[in-house]
Amino acid sequence: MPITSTAPRRSSTQSPVRIVIVGHVDHGKSSLIGRLFYDTNSLPDGKFESVRRACDARGVRFEWAFLLDALMAERDQGITIDTTQMWFKTELRDYVIIDAPGHREFIKNMITGAASADAALLVVDADEGMQEQTRTHGYLLHLFGVRQIAVVVNKMDKVGFSEARFQEVAASVTSYLWSLGLDSEHVPVIPICAREGDNIASPSTSMPWYTGSTVVDALDSFPRPVGGEDLPLRLPVQDVYKFDDRRIIAGRLQSGHLRTGDTILFSPSNKQARVNSIEGWNADGPIIAARAGQSIGITLDQQIFVERGEVISHSANPPMLSKVFRGRLFWFGSEPMTVGRHYKMKINTAEHMVTVEAIERVINVADLSGSDADKVERNEIAEVVLRSRALMSLDDFSEDPRAGRFVLVDNFDTVGGGLVSTDGYADARSSVAIKSTNITRVAHRVSLEQRWVSNGHKSGIIWLTGLSGSGKSTLGFALEQFLHAKGYQVFVLDGDNVRHGLCADLGFSPEDRAENIRRVGEMAHVFANAGVLVITAFISPYRSDRRRVREIAGNLFHEIHVKADLATCEQRDPKGLYRRARQGEIENFTGVSAPYEEPLQPELLVDTTNHQPEESLQALIGYVEANFGARSLGDLLSARESLRAAS
Ligand code: ADX
Repeated sequence: MPITSTAPRRSSTQSPVRIVIVGHVDHGKSSLIGRLFYDTNSLPDGKFESVRRACDARGVRFEWAFLLDALMAERDQGITIDTTQMWFKTELRDYVIIDAPGHREFIKNMITGAASADAALLVVDADEGMQEQTRTHGYLLHLFGVRQIAVVVNKMDKVGFSEARFQEVAASVTSYLWSLGLDSEHVPVIPICAREGDNIASPSTSMPWYTGSTVVDALDSFPRPVGGEDLPLRLPVQDVYKFDDRRIIAGRLQSGHLRTGDTILFSPSNKQARVNSIEGWNADGPIIAARAGQSIGITLDQQIFVERGEVISHSANPPMLSKVFRGRLFWFGSEPMTVGRHYKMKINTAEHMVTVEAIERVINVADLSGSDADKVERNEIAEVVLRSRALMSLDDFSEDPRAGRFVLVDNFDTVGGGLVSTDGYADARSSVAIKSTNITRVAHRVSLEQRWVSNGHKSGIIWLTGLSGSGKSTLGFALEQFLHAKGYQVFVLDGDNVRHGLCADLGFSPEDRAENIRRVGEMAHVFANAGVLVITAFISPYRSDRRRVREIAGNLFHEIHVKADLATCEQRDPKGLYRRARQGEIENFTGVSAPYEEPLQPELLVDTTNHQPEESLQALIGYVEANFGARSLGDLLSARESLRAAS
């Protein structure tokens, strides 16, 4: 709705282009907006004259900002319906300015997606040049994916309409935008004097040296924004209503298309069903197809239990499932964000409790450098790793700017928001995908305890994790040899060996590593159930993968961190792989170009940087004897003795 009581005529049936006007607080945003309205004939009739008369009567010089204030005052009296949006139109199309000046919540709204802009005008004062706020706003535009930007260098009258000064300011803004990764060559930079209307809708006579476009031309030449229709289907479930025995799943199509008869997938539950019918709220009867932007209800061909928060997609193009992701975040909480804190995260219609696992860097918007920090202060931008206990349905912001945003809430206050990056994390969908059906478990007639008693020791999985070169294999095989000599049923599963056979089809991408560890975890579990003490030697760099093995094997799983710092491992470099990785010959090499997530609470930590191999081996032997040795069987063995005696 327009801010004015007389809505400008809509020049087309297409939705308006949503623009934001950002920049330092004193650089003339209000004048620019006032003048844009005036020069495009978008002001309510008589408004300009009445404000000018009021200025004359009080003997003050007319300012465009007064006109805007007058419009705001009307807004505040509730004369108009919408509180933040102002419309204007050019001959070509309609625009809506979605950030009323002085609207303090604006940045918050931009981050939370409440105000998503198609294009932006970045205002810089010709005299003062770029300020920190100009940089922050430029950075935020970039961060939130606004790629259609025009820079206006305002108050050219203050610098005597000097071309040289304009070029200087233009060069500094352009080079900043370039350093952000924007195609700055195609960003128009326009010298203006908003107050006098120079280069707003018509070319300035005071700056004949400038032959580029006016502000209005620049806006009109931005390509029309693409709707979400071209993206894969995303329909976050808002509610599930029960009518008699029918369930209607309601939500708004965020992107893509949906048709009756489509097979759809729910995330994160990974359930599938077919769409029986689509109901529109104002439609007379069922509709056949719906597209991005529509609010619909659907019924399914079967009763499956789904709740608010699930995301509906087609199975060919689903969101990713993960318990962890990296967020690029703008923090506006009054308390700083710290590692280990829990926040409620809202993403689409879902809510998850997340823990801040790491603050990887805080970004300095002035020079775009990153620095280590253990907290994120108000108004800072940071890259953080967030983890939840349950699987989350995630879309990478670069692939889907609508779905890839999240907001953090602390005690009912929105304290931060940002963008999801799934880069480097594996899709955990296979962990909830069970393809085999009609299967039932069959029980063994020999129990695990019986196997332990006859072997004289317990079985389980000694899961060695650590960087390549930390000593996992060396220690694993030495431990196997020692335990075998002691009469243990023991076997090492080693990364390099398994990758020659069972996992020969897998590489080192996060997905492949997840699958490698899943297979090995399942196999180790089978061995452990057969009574064998299994030692595994895999880098297994992702916590989520290791946690999954723990979920498979329960108490049989013992996580041992074979810890050596990267420098030590690189120095040892037993296979020459670090050297090759540094030369760029090996991709995704753990520690060099792929992450290693250390165990947070391993059952045992063996430090091979500061201890000799023999000491580390003794530590492992001690751990095995205490947890798996004959003594740990105590009660079981005495039961066997008494059984023997009785027979
Ligand atoms: S894991 O990450 O999936 O657990 P795994 O332990 O099976 O890895 O295999 C690691 C071994 O593969 C290393 O010891 C090294 O010899 C070899 N290797 C080859 N390429 C890589 C790589 N990109 N990253 C890590 N190890 C690699």
